[in-house]
Amino acid sequence: MATWSKASLTGAAVFLLSLSAASVAHGRRSYGEPCKKMKLYFHDIIYDYSNSTSNSTSAAVTKPTALSTTVSKSGYFFGRVVVFNDPMTEGKALPPELEETAVRAQGLYFLDRKDDFGAWMAFSIVFNSTAQQGTLSLMGADPNVETKDISVVGGTGDFFMARGVATLRGDAVEGLKYFRLQMDISLYECYDA
Ligand SMILES: *[C@@H]1O[C@H](CO)[C@@H](O)[C@H](O)[C@H]1NC(C)=O
Ligand SMILES: *[C@@H]1O[C@H](CO)[C@@H](O)[C@H](O)[C@H]1NC(C)=O
Ligand SMILES: *[C@@H]1O[C@H](CO)[C@@H](O)[C@H](O)[C@H]1NC(C)=O
Repeated sequence: MATWSKASLTGAAVFLLSLSAASVAHGRRSYGEPCKKMKLYFHDIIYDYSNSTSNSTSAAVTKPTALSTTVSKSGYFFGRVVVFNDPMTEGKALPPELEETAVRAQGLYFLDRKDDFGAWMAFSIVFNSTAQQGTLSLMGADPNVETKDISVVGGTGDFFMARGVATLRGDAVEGLKYFRLQMDISLYECYDA
C-alpha cells in the first residue's frame, strides 16, 4: 500500500492551491483608465472605382478567385486583398495633400465573408510630426457592424511597447470608392519616458 505522509499531501494541496491562486490572479488582471486616448479619422480612396492615380490611396492587389466569383454574386468580394497607404486626420475633412500627412495608416485588409461584407485588417499608424514620432500596430476582425474593436498590439518610438484597443465606426461612405472610419484609440499600456 502506497504510503503518503500527511505532510506531503498537505504540501501537494498547498502547491495546487497556490498554482490556481496565481492563475486566477493573472486571468483577472484589470485595467483602469486608458493612459492615452486619441481620435483619428482614416480615409480610404479606392483606386479601382475611379482609376484616379492622384486621388487614390488604396488598391485591390488580387484578382477575383473562382470561389469569390461563385459566391460573391452580390458583391462581397470574398478573398479580395486591398493594400493602403491612407491619410489619417484629426478632423473629418480630407487633407489638402493626400500623400503628405503627419499621420498615416499603412497596411492591408482582406474581405473574408461570403454572405456579407466583412474584413480583417492589419496596419501601422505612422506618426511623423514634431509632436509625435513612432508607430502603433493594429490588427483584427472588422465585421459589418456599427462599431467594432480591434487590438493595438504594439508600438515604437513615442508609443514604445504600447497596447490597447481601437474602436472603429464607419463615418462616411461613397459607394465602393471612398470610406472614412472614425478610430477611437485607447492605450492601456504606455511606457513613454
Ligand atoms: C477603370 O478602369 C477599368 C479597366 O481598367 C474599367 O473597367 C472601369 O470602367 C474604369 N472605371 C472608371 C470609373 O473609369
Ligand atoms: C517625416 O516628415 C519629414 C518632414 O516633413 C519628412 O522630411 C520625412 O520624409 C518624413 N518621414 C517619413 C518616413 O515619412
Ligand atoms: C477625391 O476622392 C474623394 C472621395 O471620393 C472625393 O470626396 C474628393 O472630392 C476627390 N478629390 C478630387 C480632387 O477629385
